[in-house]
Amino acid sequence: MHRMANKRILLGVTGGIAAYKSAELIRRLVEHGADVRVVMTTAAQEFITPLTLQALSGNPVHLELLDTEAEAGMGHIELARWGDALLIAPASADFIARLANGHGNDLLSTLCLAARSAIYVAPAMNQAMWASPANQNNIKQLNDNGIQLIGPESGSQACGDIGLGRMSEPDQIAQQLADTFHTGTLAGSHIVITAGPTREAIDPVRYISNHSSGKMGFALAEAARDAGAQVTLIAGPVNLATPERVKRINVVSANDMLEATTACLDKLEGGVIFIGTAAVADYRPNNQVEQKIKKTENDNGLTLELIENPDIIANVAQRQNKPFTVGFAAETQNVIEYAKGKIDRKNLDMIIANDVSNKEIGFNSDLNAVTIIWPSGSKNLDIASKHSIAQGIIHEISLQH
Ligand code: C5P
Repeated sequence: MHRMANKRILLGVTGGIAAYKSAELIRRLVEHGADVRVVMTTAAQEFITPLTLQALSGNPVHLELLDTEAEAGMGHIELARWGDALLIAPASADFIARLANGHGNDLLSTLCLAARSAIYVAPAMNQAMWASPANQNNIKQLNDNGIQLIGPESGSQACGDIGLGRMSEPDQIAQQLADTFHTGTLAGSHIVITAGPTREAIDPVRYISNHSSGKMGFALAEAARDAGAQVTLIAGPVNLATPERVKRINVVSANDMLEATTACLDKLEGGVIFIGTAAVADYRPNNQVEQKIKKTENDNGLTLELIENPDIIANVAQRQNKPFTVGFAAETQNVIEYAKGKIDRKNLDMIIANDVSNKEIGFNSDLNAVTIIWPSGSKNLDIASKHSIAQGIIHEISLQH
């Protein structure tokens, strides 16, 4: 179930009697957790109405290439980029011919040219048409172009013939598409991630902070989303774009971050995972002054009194309905030993240890190497991009939580 949570499927429907099965196909895709948008050719609308497919997908159906109103809503290039996969079911012999030859004379064929995602085609036609040399040449061309076929099946056909050419059943098409994603391991889970540094105000223009870039937390948010989770990213001040389909809450100070985290967890029920990647400032100035501190007032230098900030992850781990809590331990020596101590001290379920004395990895780098530690085991992830380390961490969390 929900193998396609957070996945966007663009479904192209072309003209053929099997178009009536598209209604069922949409329901199966939605049951797998997918967000579906439908594109219909003119011929498809002779077999099933856009209204039916709109009601089932819950999204507007796209019909025209040169429709100014539709283009203003979501242009055809934007639509092509929207999908994580483009599925054409049913694909008629005529559409397959146009696809094989790179036509772009209607919305669906144009989307096939503009799509950067994988394209899947579920053919549906009479057995003689399927076997015809012209169609077989077109199918070979689709294969050569990297377009993948789902079906067709053999069996009785609407015209009374028996043979190869029936569209695969909606269940089977949805299942085959779901299998291509290799994800969904965290479908149904909600993940809350803190990321980046915090800023602790000294006066209205100055602050104390650190070099955290937020890259690891943002990479984890993407990996968790790709694994099907609903993701909330609580980010300190960082210069990073919000990953698509991730809810971002911006905060500044450690106190703001604690407040946002508590408010977010209060709204969620069971099955929550919390990952603290934020480099929360350990201290903040005791007296926040309203006006800029003048140099002339401090001829003998300036002494700041610092007080300790709340430990956000320790707060989370003390909650009654405690989420599966994952911390980070950036150390410069005795990395594993200190990390294990932190698991106990902060009551964590897992900790990700990394050696920040290694200049190749850590704070501003795009690379990282970590040891994942949980009470009954550990796993090393060798030096790799933060993106791939994030996928490894999310995979381990999905096994252990
Ligand atoms: O104690 P230390 O700062 O090394 O612990 C690191 C872990 O604790 C990280 O997961 C970090 O996000 C979290 N942390 C926190 N609030 C703090 C300090 C650290 O959530 N005030």
